Amino acid sequence: MSTETEGDAARFPGVDLSRPSAARIYDWYLGGAHNWAIDREFGARIETMLPPIKALARSNRAFLGRLVRAALDSGIRQFLDIGSGIPAVGNVHEIVRQHGADARVVYVDYEPVAAAHSRMLLQQEEATGWAGIVQQDFLAPSAVLESPETRRLIDFDQPVCLLLIALGHFLGDEADVPGVLDRYRDRLVAGSWLGLSHIACDDATPEQQEQMRGGAASYQDTSNPLWLRDRAELARWFGPWPLLSPGMVHLPDWRPDVPDEPLSEEEAQARGLAWCGVATRPD
Ligand SMILES: C[S@@+](CC[C@H](N)C(=O)[O-])C[C@H]1O[C@@H](n2cnc3c(N)ncnc32)[C@H](O)[C@@H]1O
Repeated sequence: MSTETEGDAARFPGVDLSRPSAARIYDWYLGGAHNWAIDREFGARIETMLPPIKALARSNRAFLGRLVRAALDSGIRQFLDIGSGIPAVGNVHEIVRQHGADARVVYVDYEPVAAAHSRMLLQQEEATGWAGIVQQDFLAPSAVLESPETRRLIDFDQPVCLLLIALGHFLGDEADVPGVLDRYRDRLVAGSWLGLSHIACDDATPEQQEQMRGGAASYQDTSNPLWLRDRAELARWFGPWPLLSPGMVHLPDWRPDVPDEPLSEEEAQARGLAWCGVATRPD
């Protein structure tokens, strides 16, 4: 597998190789090639502390896929994917393409490597007519919502599926995430969806709780310190929007493709380590 080399960093203006970054570590968890030695070494250290971490990343990615397909099946044709990450198997625009829907996609990420690779991929796939990337901070909702790329692609008079998949645990309490989310929700019309997933350990075994706390502490040394939150707190992030069935659940439990299919051992170990949910704006 080829990986980015230190010299390649020059291709990504603003890339910080002095510390590992969440986007590049996650790329490594998923088996991607867009990470550097500093990210791989950090990821391997986390895997030693928390063996199911790669299964957790794959489970999160699978949830994203099921959620996007469910939104498309329900008629939604616009996606705003914030904290979209470095492109990986099952990107939102690829799911849209497989579905055959005429939909629009805006990716948002503040990590230079994620933005650059997303831009390159959309160009290579000749998808820039209906999909784009905005390099911005989630915590700057006006900059995201009013960016020329968002305005080009998203019609805010029509429903939007707002995705915050594995983003929230990189947002600290000082950021007032519920207040920022109000700003996004206020911009979306009835029928819009908000889907999120977030690492957690309130439903994990005592041993895993300790491992998760250790892992979260290690992330303090990266560009993206990590926060653990519990189910009740995350449920409040949806504000007044009601949750769609099946509510706030663990990743494999959100509308599985094959209900009651047993999880692999790895998936079962990762199951209690995140929450996810999808809510909709009522009429
Ligand atoms: C773990 S990755 C998740 C990628 C993708 N959403 C997924 O679930 O497969 C988290 C991403 O959030 C991005 N991120 C973290 N904080 C952010 C912020 N404040 N604004 C925009 N992106 C952010 C990181 O750069 C990283 O790419």
